[in-house]
Amino acid sequence: MCGIVAYLGPKEAYPILINGLRRLEYRGYDSAGVALLNDSLEVYKTKGKVADLENFVKEVDLRGTIGIAHTRWATHGEPNDVNAHPHFSQSKEIALIHNGIIENYAPLRSELETRGYVFESSTDTEVLTNLIEDIRKNENVSLFEAVRIALNQVIGAYAIVVIDAKDPNSLIAARKGSPLVIGIGNDDYYIASDATPIIEYTRNVVYLDDEEIALISRSSDLKIKTIRNKEKTPYVQELEMNLSALEKGGFEHFMLKEIFEQPQSIRDSMRGRLHADIGSVSLGGIIDYEQKLVNAKRIIIVACGTSWHAGLVGEYLFEDIARIPVEVEYASEFRYRNPVIYESDVVIAISQSGETADTLAAIDLAKQKGATILGICNVVGSSIARATHAGSYTHAGPEIGVASTKAFTAQVTLLTLMALRLAQLKGTITKTRFVHLLNELERIPDKVAKTLQSSKKVIEIAEKYKDVRNFLYLGRGYNFPVALEGALKLKEISYIHAEGYPAAEMKHGPIALIDEEMPVVVIATNKGTYDKVVSNIQEVKARKGQVIAIVTEGNVAVYGMADYVIEIPETEEMFVPLLATVPLQKLAYYIAVMRGCNVDQPRNLAKSVTVE
Ligand code: AGP
Ligand code: GLU
Repeated sequence: MCGIVAYLGPKEAYPILINGLRRLEYRGYDSAGVALLNDSLEVYKTKGKVADLENFVKEVDLRGTIGIAHTRWATHGEPNDVNAHPHFSQSKEIALIHNGIIENYAPLRSELETRGYVFESSTDTEVLTNLIEDIRKNENVSLFEAVRIALNQVIGAYAIVVIDAKDPNSLIAARKGSPLVIGIGNDDYYIASDATPIIEYTRNVVYLDDEEIALISRSSDLKIKTIRNKEKTPYVQELEMNLSALEKGGFEHFMLKEIFEQPQSIRDSMRGRLHADIGSVSLGGIIDYEQKLVNAKRIIIVACGTSWHAGLVGEYLFEDIARIPVEVEYASEFRYRNPVIYESDVVIAISQSGETADTLAAIDLAKQKGATILGICNVVGSSIARATHAGSYTHAGPEIGVASTKAFTAQVTLLTLMALRLAQLKGTITKTRFVHLLNELERIPDKVAKTLQSSKKVIEIAEKYKDVRNFLYLGRGYNFPVALEGALKLKEISYIHAEGYPAAEMKHGPIALIDEEMPVVVIATNKGTYDKVVSNIQEVKARKGQVIAIVTEGNVAVYGMADYVIEIPETEEMFVPLLATVPLQKLAYYIAVMRGCNVDQPRNLAKSVTVE
């Protein structure tokens, strides 16, 4: 989630803060704000860009040598001026900025409301701000101690910085699940979400670890404790990376960074929703529409591109375990083909950007016909999120690379949670199987991390096939959408023509394409139809085709057939798309890099197709 910058020292804070926010713009955001302490603690914040914030503060007194600043990527509460950070506590004695998600904000807010707190925003962050205030007042402790106690009551992810209106000499920072770096200058401190706003001032940094809280003071050295009150010695490192490398977290491209973020983004998409320990799935955003889904005679999924591929995985999931008929429609076709739509239909619109024109138009058409419309978006408050009756955000964080990667696996994760919840409500799977699937789903982020471990084999394959003119991707069942997505990834960033096909369909035409020039990626992890997929591999080999097989680890039989084998961890068939897609994303990435293509901004493409 987005951007934090704070400063404490002898210099004027505002120029450092606003420059720092500009350094963090690459991370994607929807609002910006700053708090400065001089004679009083003042907060200035606005929906929009950093430039809008600069405009907003043009006429105000921006003096002060201590301040905090934030770029927001909304998770709770749509992007607007009130929901932007920093957030004041009710008394305005403290202000706080936050990256992350407070999962248990609702019960905390209710409790604070019973104690007389009135909230201005609809964010989870404001709840934490007032919780800290309440603890400081009622337990009569220091602000540092109040923050530490409050964080022990918080469930979720946070990187925060807190400023005290009555204390111009210190800041408090803490993190869990969202990064936070403290830069140590000669006589000043810089705090930020990553080192990009810091590196031009100092290379000496301390990376806070999870559940650590820091007291940054003018008059003394950095103090760090765990939130369990254990003293920690700050470990000062020297930054080696340059600015450009830092923006991408040390990766060469945003796309590669986002491929490697998938263990975390899948965790974030399940955060507060998957409770394997108690055998439950809760999707708060659509809870009021669960019965609509349970009673639906049909689900229609509308989307474009990669989101359409996620929708196709959704079709297999809903039909397989929730036994609800599903149709997956290209939004651009659906909107014009005069489709039959019933009031009993539930339409699920899937979109990373939440701004895709064809998907918006499809939603409008379905709404006119009286259907119920649910959304799966990655951008809070986006047009599609606002056009649907309800929905769930993927919480994958900003996706900067034009080729969608972590958004796809986050969408599939959301669809998996929905299908599991519906299966539980409809009783279409046993309680034992339901709990087993929840426990396996909880292990998926670690299995994705394992799949990401080595790129050596993928790089070798990319080197071999980077100059071919065509690729074929084959998969069956849950792996058919994976074949489509793998082909799209390759063609949109390397400009090599690639087609995804149901493996059995190959003999109905595409087999004519097979020759020694044609690499064929075959996802062969199936259980039920494994033998059939193996036959497809043999059909390709019989025509001198080159086979790159994606198999379940330990499958040695395929080594004798395929030219290259990539192994992925064993998992339930319905979760394979979350694993099998990863090597295909990397294959496309490395081929594109070897071909000198602009991986993050491929030719002719836009990140969000807001026109027809
Ligand atoms: C996928 O890599 C492409 N960038 C493109 O197909 C994209 O998925 C499609 O334009 C839909 O975008 P959306 O998810 O933002 O609606
Ligand atoms: N969850 C907080 C909000 O929605 C912080 C979001 C962020 O990480 O920017 O305001």
